[in-house]
Amino acid sequence: MAAPRLNSSDIKSMKGPGKVVCLTAYDTPMAKRVDQHCDLILVGDSLAMVVYGLETTRGVTLDIMIAHGQAVMRGSERACVVVDLPHGTYEQNPPQAVASALRVVAETGCQAVKLEGGEEMAETVAAIVNAGVPVLGHIGLLPQKAESRGGFKIQGKDDEGAHQVYKDAAAIEKAGAFAMVIEGTVEAVAREVTARSAIPLIGIGASPACDGQILVTQDMVGLFADFTPKFVKRYADAGKLIEQAVADYAAEVRSGDFPGLEHCFGVPKKD
Ligand code: KIV
Repeated sequence: MAAPRLNSSDIKSMKGPGKVVCLTAYDTPMAKRVDQHCDLILVGDSLAMVVYGLETTRGVTLDIMIAHGQAVMRGSERACVVVDLPHGTYEQNPPQAVASALRVVAETGCQAVKLEGGEEMAETVAAIVNAGVPVLGHIGLLPQKAESRGGFKIQGKDDEGAHQVYKDAAAIEKAGAFAMVIEGTVEAVAREVTARSAIPLIGIGASPACDGQILVTQDMVGLFADFTPKFVKRYADAGKLIEQAVADYAAEVRSGDFPGLEHCFGVPKKD
């Protein structure tokens, strides 16, 4: 019998020496591959950029996130699946956020939701947790807010910035999040937040001292090569493989080598 799926409490209990391995997935085939190796799969709103070709992570709706969440749940059985609440679906007030979170969980069956923000979102995180939905926090660089904050800026660069990251982490932990993503933050600050916090810190552009790591799978396997941030390590060039396969297919169709009779139906077998 398959081992039961990890949940938010399992992830929370991984604080410490072991590492929480996380990647994104947006569809069933990718979820199947990621599930075998990861503790947590994030259906991130980065899909706006790497799947839908949008300029920012804004512009995906709750309906879109739910459809991708359902696809990832169909393709996974072991990992804890977390679905991002997209921009515009939780910031207005806690009741709006609770309604969005409950809808995502009810319609996908995922284990938790993620939302971006520090101190200013603590009340919202607490409301969602009180409604019975586990929350993965997201502090440091916040892609949904990059536009309004002058771009994708590394956080914690001076004393004031570092102090803000510490306050954000403490507030989100106190609000009841089971873990936090910390993105695009000065290494020493991310290290210190990890040491101060009782819940796992999942780094991306943060620190090797974090309790876990996440990357966008498309970045990591070379499927999204428009821009590669410093924090991405490329483990494969799947984009090149696909291009080569497509070029071979096109050449064989044009030359008449594909399809062969072996790909057709009702063709008598030769002895
Ligand atoms: O949307 C996403 O993929 C994310 C990760 C970068 C953490 O939030």
